[in-house]
Amino acid sequence: MDCLDLILSSRADTDLLGQAIGQALKGGEVLALIGDLGAGKTTLVRGIAVGLGVPARSVSSPTFVLAHEYQGRLPLTHIDLYRLTDGRETDSMGLAELFTDHSVAAIEWADRFPACLPEDLLEIRLAHRSPSTRNVSFRALGPESSALLTRIAELLRKRTSHRPRGKITGQGKASTR
Ligand SMILES: Nc1ncnc2c1ncn2[C@@H]1O[C@H](COP(=O)(O)OP(=O)(O)OP(=O)(O)O)[C@@H](O)[C@H]1O
Ligand SMILES: [Mg+2]
Repeated sequence: MDCLDLILSSRADTDLLGQAIGQALKGGEVLALIGDLGAGKTTLVRGIAVGLGVPARSVSSPTFVLAHEYQGRLPLTHIDLYRLTDGRETDSMGLAELFTDHSVAAIEWADRFPACLPEDLLEIRLAHRSPSTRNVSFRALGPESSALLTRIAELLRKRTSHRPRGKITGQGKASTR
């Protein structure tokens, strides 16, 4: 699957989506989080961390240190490019070395320096819909991220079949290669 659009009706939905993503990860994936201030990027990463077995309270925005590492079922590197002003700073912070086969990278404001990112990444765009709801659009840019998106969709599908009135609603825009 290479595209999926969902509506998140509450912060709890964003958290649950993050948990499904965390459960679907196998290591080596790069998640490019894109969206305005307050769109829910950090909230989603907190859910992802929980899905990997990291306590939610240990997750905070890495805006001032650029990267945080959490140790769960897989190592999770949480990066925030918001304050970087120059793409060359990504060299000095060793951004490329943070992308490893066994860990997962979640990058807030990934669209600021796209050239610094690997090709095969899962783009996750969050957008305000109302004060408490968000649109989320996934786009897989390579085979690994496409396989990840398929696993995420499968977990969400199983979950909603257990929870018939589940709130994470697809917009019928899933597509496969
Ligand atoms: N459906 C929702 N999903 C996510 N967050 C929501 C939702 N509804 C309301 N919120 C609120 O929106 C805010 C999202 O903040 P968060 O720090 O996750 O955004 P962000 O995209 O990381 O912002 P920044 O660009 O400043 O890093 C939180 O205060 C959260 O409670
Ligand atoms: Mg944030």
